[in-house]
Amino acid sequence: MVLSSPRGTSDIFGEDIRYRDFIINTSRELFDVFNYKEIITPVFEHTEVFDRGIGEGTDIVRKEMYTFPDKKGRSLTLRPEGTASVVRAIIEHKLFAGALPLKLFYIENMFRYERPQKGRMREFWQLGVEAAGISDPQIDAEVIWLLNIIFEKLGFKNLKLLVNSVGCGICRQEYIKAFRSYIQPSVESLCEDCKIRYVNNPLRIFDCKIGGCAAILKEAPKIYAHICPDCRQHFDKVTEYLDLLKIDYVIKDDLVRGFDYYTQTIFEIISADLDSAQNALGGGGRYDKLIPQFGGPDMPSIGFAVGIDRTIVLMRQLNISYSLKQDDLSVLIINMENSHKSYCLELLRFLREFGIKSEISHEAKNIGNSIKSAQKNGFSHIIIIGEDEVKSGILSIKDLKEFQQQKINFKNEPEKILNIFRR
Ligand code: HAM
Repeated sequence: MVLSSPRGTSDIFGEDIRYRDFIINTSRELFDVFNYKEIITPVFEHTEVFDRGIGEGTDIVRKEMYTFPDKKGRSLTLRPEGTASVVRAIIEHKLFAGALPLKLFYIENMFRYERPQKGRMREFWQLGVEAAGISDPQIDAEVIWLLNIIFEKLGFKNLKLLVNSVGCGICRQEYIKAFRSYIQPSVESLCEDCKIRYVNNPLRIFDCKIGGCAAILKEAPKIYAHICPDCRQHFDKVTEYLDLLKIDYVIKDDLVRGFDYYTQTIFEIISADLDSAQNALGGGGRYDKLIPQFGGPDMPSIGFAVGIDRTIVLMRQLNISYSLKQDDLSVLIINMENSHKSYCLELLRFLREFGIKSEISHEAKNIGNSIKSAQKNGFSHIIIIGEDEVKSGILSIKDLKEFQQQKINFKNEPEKILNIFRR
């Protein structure tokens, strides 16, 4: 039996769970403030949801999907992203019938058969939002604001927010014509992947990291310069609102993203501290035609997703810590003598009944080592139980972060103990 998880997957435990909880809890609070409601979709869908949603010419659909037949031969695919599934659910459950915009968020694992590297996995976690049923550029700015503020609240300082417009169906087609004729004389010099992209999805050539392709693109016409007056007006409004919200951004006129569904506004938040091939912590855009293309009503929409695993990698790299919340206050009872087991159990019962996270470390030999172990295991407080404590009933509760200590009589002043953990 192979005792390792499949390539590109990982077990998440220990401190990574604390980072992950911090990212998820911070985002959940913001989703609530921005009035998004949660949706959970199945981990696999009928393959055509992604083929049609993401686009058959995209790298994801061509090369990266985990597709398999079920026992009745139906083709299923593990979700490589969240948007297509959410759109399917909106149409299936007629979620468009309620108040618009429909604002949904999700926190889900995704699967892409990619070459695993630091920050790039085959199974990874995303948190994302979709705001459906509104074309007003103000919502574009609001969605970008939400993406930006998540990273601000997590403690990031030097991220770059990139924005661009990929135009609408009409002006993009015009642009693609101009782009193809620019590339055409150099097609034979493109890499094998880009030769296919040239036919199926030429804009993806901008994403190629191979030197030869990048050199060919140097003088290429930029989509931003080709968008029609309506798309230009929409984009100008988006940037006007971003200015109003005091959000720093850079217009990157050659930014493209790997999904066919995007129209007009696209954006990414990147870090110079990550390898350029996977420097995006999050990204998204407008997809005005996807819901009607799936047979739903005309519902212009926009959303983004953040890579949770990649965000953890960067937080660790930049020494950005997760902050402890009230719920993280917890006590390790350090029992110095075997004979005090019952006393410790009584104390444990008291703490746990009042909802205070607590644990006992029995037969501690060395207080210094026990304190180190408490810190390593994320306990915020310790209570040492020795002969004196049992006799006097007075507990010393030590705060391991603030290095403060309070002495409280366990039997006579239980409220005082609880107050420490209700601060
Ligand atoms: P995406 O750019 O493919 O967009 O993914 C969003 C984020 O997920 C990336 O910026 C990255 O942080 C993370 N990510 C993507 N692939 C991997 C991987 N293999 N390993 C680790 N992290 C990864 C979407 O998925 C769109 N559905 C976003 C969207 C929502 N657009 C509109 N609505």
